[in-house]
Amino acid sequence: PVDVGIHAISLYFPSQFVKQDALEEYDGVSSGKYTIGLGQTEMGFCSDREDINSLFLTVTHRLLKEYDIDVCNIGYLAVGSETILDKAKSIKSVLMQIWDWHGVDPIDVEGVDSVSACYGGTAALFNAINWIESSSWNGKQALVVTADIAVYASGNARPTGGAGAVAMLIGPCAPIVFERGTRSTYMEHAYDFYKPNLSSEYPVVDGKLSVLCYLRALDKCYQLFCEKSETLGFKDPKTGQHALSCLNALVFHSPYCRLVEKSVARLYFNDLLRCASDENLPVDIQHLGKLRLEDTYFDKELEKQLLSLSRPVFQDLTETSLLVAKHVGNMYCPSVYACLASSLLGKSLIELSGMRIGIFSYGSGFTSSMFSVRIAKDGEPSFVPLKKMHSLLSKIPSCLGSRILRSPEYFTRAVEKWDLIAHQAPFDPNDPVEELAKGTWYLVSVDDRHRRKYAYH
Ligand code: ACO
Repeated sequence: PVDVGIHAISLYFPSQFVKQDALEEYDGVSSGKYTIGLGQTEMGFCSDREDINSLFLTVTHRLLKEYDIDVCNIGYLAVGSETILDKAKSIKSVLMQIWDWHGVDPIDVEGVDSVSACYGGTAALFNAINWIESSSWNGKQALVVTADIAVYASGNARPTGGAGAVAMLIGPCAPIVFERGTRSTYMEHAYDFYKPNLSSEYPVVDGKLSVLCYLRALDKCYQLFCEKSETLGFKDPKTGQHALSCLNALVFHSPYCRLVEKSVARLYFNDLLRCASDENLPVDIQHLGKLRLEDTYFDKELEKQLLSLSRPVFQDLTETSLLVAKHVGNMYCPSVYACLASSLLGKSLIELSGMRIGIFSYGSGFTSSMFSVRIAKDGEPSFVPLKKMHSLLSKIPSCLGSRILRSPEYFTRAVEKWDLIAHQAPFDPNDPVEELAKGTWYLVSVDDRHRRKYAYH
């Protein structure tokens, strides 16, 4: 099969949110810390009517419905999440109920769950691509579904929470094609963010270390990605090397938007070092070309300078990809794919034609990859499904706008309650179902054997 890629994409985020400026005041931090320092405007969060299974059911149902997909044509279903309700039973198995509801025998649908912090969705995606490109492929399409509920204990990490889900239909001859030969991976052992307490939803976080790990992973993946891209012929005409100029868009896992802006600055610095020679660099920044990547992670002055130098690149390649991330927060696994969806939505169909998009996925612990997609050209038959995708994605801003605004007090109560009840059994949720968006699956009850019942709103 050729041109394996994304045929359809759907997003889901909670129907309620809190404003980050109100949270700054409530938390007693200086005004601007969350909104400017972290670059976050709003944060979505779930009521007690939603859990990780319901988020998966909602977004999978939405994708099948929006794109009129027949479950008989799905031969693989891969799940990526780090929100664990059960140590044995997979979320994948919960989703197989959808086959039942369609009256279809759930036979020959491979794939299970992948867990590796925020990287699980990417692992699931790679598994699905590999399945289609393998001898096991049965000619059908694959579904990749990824969701998480990100809640932190009170303190400096809490404003970087969020929740959401993304589902993608993967198959050959796609409008958004995964470029073969660019996938570049870097993994290390680190205790930057992990969840050793199985009875709590809160991670143990070393925030500063997690940022350092993220940026180091980015450097490593980008270096390899450049090497691999160069062998495929992607070279900047001026330097004969791969550079950001070989991409038309660039999306990242977004724990908070300011980190993404810093990531673009970091890649700009990588380019500068890769191409450093006195003829290539303007006189005023020639001294930067003599620095070493590994010596500069904590250099705030350099970071400031790079942020300013790379601002036009950020605006051109990345800014529009942060629409959902800015207003919903860190979705963990789906974050990078919500950024991809926002990036598609932020361009016109004409602009999308033939675009090449770089993607960086990071999961703490840590696991990371950079890879790229190429969009079909307007006029090619595989471009056609992009029109529907684009028109469905264009509803996102109005969906964001129709969410219910909650106070910081309400948000805090909800997050703390959620942490307490996440594994409680029996449990009867009591938040109002009517406040969920139409088309949402919700939790009806948990019995004394932890068996969960869901219904559709
Ligand atoms: N106006 C403008 N900016 C401000 C203000 C203000 N009033 N106050 C502070 N700031 C800036 C700071 O200067 C800082 O900027 P810098 O990062 O450019 O130096 C920024 O706001 C954040 O302030 P800090 O004091 O550094 O933040 P803190 O240490 O309290 O927390 C952190 C930030 C570490 C990101 C925390 O929220 C966290 O642990 N989050 C979870 C971990 C995470 O998301 N890691 C990312 C990768 S791993 C993953 O995806 C989970």
